[in-house]
Amino acid sequence: MEYTTLGSTGTTVSKICLGCMSFGSGQDWMLDEEEGRELLEQAIDLGINFFDTANVYSAGESEAILGDVLADYDRDEFVVASKVRFPGANDHRNAEGLSRKTIEQELEASLDRLGLDTLDLYQIHRWDYDTPIETTMRALDDAVRRGQVRHLGASSMWAHQFLEARRVSEREGLAPFETMQNLYHLAYREEEREMFPVCRKYDVATMPWSPLGAGYLARPHEEFRTTTRADHEVENAGVPYHEFPASEAINERVGELADDRGVTMAQIALAWQFENDNTTAPIVGTSSVKHLEEAVEALEISLSDSDVEYLEEPYEPVPVYGHD
Ligand SMILES: NC(=O)c1ccc[n+]([C@@H]2O[C@H](COP(=O)([O-])OP(=O)(O)OC[C@H]3O[C@@H](n4cnc5c(N)ncnc54)[C@H](OP(=O)(O)O)[C@@H]3O)[C@@H](O)[C@H]2O)c1
Repeated sequence: MEYTTLGSTGTTVSKICLGCMSFGSGQDWMLDEEEGRELLEQAIDLGINFFDTANVYSAGESEAILGDVLADYDRDEFVVASKVRFPGANDHRNAEGLSRKTIEQELEASLDRLGLDTLDLYQIHRWDYDTPIETTMRALDDAVRRGQVRHLGASSMWAHQFLEARRVSEREGLAPFETMQNLYHLAYREEEREMFPVCRKYDVATMPWSPLGAGYLARPHEEFRTTTRADHEVENAGVPYHEFPASEAINERVGELADDRGVTMAQIALAWQFENDNTTAPIVGTSSVKHLEEAVEALEISLSDSDVEYLEEPYEPVPVYGHD
């Protein structure tokens, strides 16, 4: 495993963050407690110390599965990130959003499920248009001061919103967002325009979600919708990567390079993330031990400048996806 520094937090994290969205129930591609444990134990054996979950993943089951496994280890070794904004296990009017009430209640519930006194990273899953950002930042800062959270982060939003939140923290002397979890992969690079320059300016670490485009970059484009997970993403989440004008060309180039190198497409798409100065640690989402091992092996693949140019060359701007 390779390790890196999570931006201004100074925390040491594995170059792979394991995404825990597939732990729980509700979809047939999800891992139950026993299967989740197997994957997590393998991840820990491979040196992964960085995990991303959320209150909303399987209504809290993901946090509970992660917490149960980490309880068998020295928890201080691990960097655990969770999120708030969408409803978790609770189902009432104040179970979602970023009001002080929601943040305080949902944080308590997340800590309880994870079996932790302190969360290493607490992220807002999206912007809340109904709560002033000052209120949200004060509630989050209080959680840091109470010792329930070490660092704050944000997920997909407009760069101007992220900057506004940073400015509020600066002006009011509050703990700032130090990480950005945004959508970024070879077939979706809109974040290069505004968000990554902002992150560089403030030494904000970046943790791209869906680094394989929810599987689109892991197999030939004609086969994208052959898994129930991909079908679900297209039908229910409206995943559009396969419809972007340059996506097929990019997918084919990933395939060509994979054949040349004798590695898998997923490994090329991940190697591009590892080589990329925009990315601190991609959040790899897999339900398979074999695919997890492939992700770790991809750390050893080095891409030349001309390989990177070849992979990036067909890209064309596309509509922003992943947030309002
Ligand atoms: N902040 C947000 O709004 C947000 C949104 C979405 C996700 N996330 C986070 O990001 C994480 C990753 O998201 P994601 O699951 O969409 O990521 P992804 O890595 O882009 O896609 C995962 C898909 O790729 C497949 N895959 C992975 N490795 C493969 C390999 N070596 N060969 C073939 N197929 C492979 C997986 O199938 P297998 O299961 O068969 O490996 C799965 O279907 C989530 O767990 C979550 O923590 C955050």
